[in-house]
Amino acid sequence: MPDPLQKCFSEARLNGLTLRNRLIKAATFEGKSKGGRISPELTRLHQRIGEGGVGMTTLAYCAAEADGRIHEHMLYMHEGIREDLERFIATMHATGAKVSGQLGHCGNFSKNREFRGKRPMGASRAINTLGLTYGLPFAGALTKPQIRERVAVFGRAADFMKSVGFDAIEIHFGHGYAISQFISPRTNQRKDEYGGPLGNRMRFALEVLDAVRRAVGDDFPLLGKISMSDGVRGGTSYDDAVEIAAFLEKGGIDVIICSGGTSSMNPMLLFRGDSLLPGLLKQEKNPIMKIGMKLVGPKLFRDYPYEENYFLEQAKRIRERVQCGVCYIGGVCTSESIATVMSEGFDFIQLGRGLLYDPDMPDRAAIDSGYKNGCSHCNECATLIDSDDGILCVEQPVNFTLT
Ligand SMILES: Cc1cc2nc3c(=O)[nH]c(=O)nc-3n(C[C@H](O)[C@H](O)[C@H](O)COP(=O)(O)O)c2cc1C
Ligand code: SF4
Repeated sequence: MPDPLQKCFSEARLNGLTLRNRLIKAATFEGKSKGGRISPELTRLHQRIGEGGVGMTTLAYCAAEADGRIHEHMLYMHEGIREDLERFIATMHATGAKVSGQLGHCGNFSKNREFRGKRPMGASRAINTLGLTYGLPFAGALTKPQIRERVAVFGRAADFMKSVGFDAIEIHFGHGYAISQFISPRTNQRKDEYGGPLGNRMRFALEVLDAVRRAVGDDFPLLGKISMSDGVRGGTSYDDAVEIAAFLEKGGIDVIICSGGTSSMNPMLLFRGDSLLPGLLKQEKNPIMKIGMKLVGPKLFRDYPYEENYFLEQAKRIRERVQCGVCYIGGVCTSESIATVMSEGFDFIQLGRGLLYDPDMPDRAAIDSGYKNGCSHCNECATLIDSDDGILCVEQPVNFTLT
């Protein structure tokens, strides 16, 4: 086996945690948590991926609080789902995989029918396009006491996640959700110490990181997923990302995951490949939303052809800047790509669609330096996240069926 592959498929340490290899299942919200509960289908999907040899799986979108959910069928961290989570984690451990939870908050990007507050809240006032037909058209700006409360909410959620047995927590700093609404100059127009220069825009992120770190202690693995670029004019840039990574390293993150784009403004930057628009239009039931999507769709879902390791050059800049762990994500579907990423000095690789297409990818790539995953990057899976049964790989539909 060539050396970089050997590195990938050897045991790795992550702040005291031992993973059987360096491949981590990326957070891919599966849409299998109706009513905010873990379904057997969600468990089976992760279990199957665990059986395929991944070092750690990631339970996507564990909202820090009820109003941190994009919609009501997402998990939020509270005692009512303790047993669900404990069972889920035990099932994953039985496969040999470790379990991380992606801790996030939607901020002002919400269509949650069970929304408890007056309106979704973010860094600054905004139109909540996602909530237009859900009675949540306007988003407000968090006051400083509300920011302090959100920071505390993240800390309490992290404490809960550790107590139910997660091996690691991945804080979502990117993709246009609450924390990145503060980091991005496009969505943060604040005039106080949370707005303005990058150091100020990072304040909320660093306070959250500090609260989470205090809750879980120094010897618990914390990963952070960032958007290296928002991909929109006036948004976070690849140059900013290098500094964002340095701030997070100083704040005590263990591993930075280098993603890009935003769900709200430029989703195709993070996916690449075929546009999500046709599939999302097929799924959308609301005629007004459909018209809106047709109008803004071509601008929102831009054309970014797929290529292997599509974030590599930008992520390398972060690898060069920080000493902490760095996890590569974006278009890893072959042994060759794994070897390239490893030889560039990255510590971990997250796999999204590769595992949805072939959950055995880790075990197969470990013994085949010519392994090529067949995912076509049609992105149909991603258009199904809000469908009745949630996601599947349309090209391998039986991958995760319950036995
Ligand atoms: C179906 C699907 C759902 C996703 N949901 C999330 C999510 O909940 N949180 C997140 O940070 N990224 C999410 N992503 C993005 C992936 O984590 C990853 O960044 C992206 O798919 C690129 O990696 P890949 O080329 O290995 O698929 C999702 C991707 C897919 C395909
Ligand atoms: S549906 Fe399957 S083939 Fe298409 S992008 Fe998703 S994982 Fe790949």
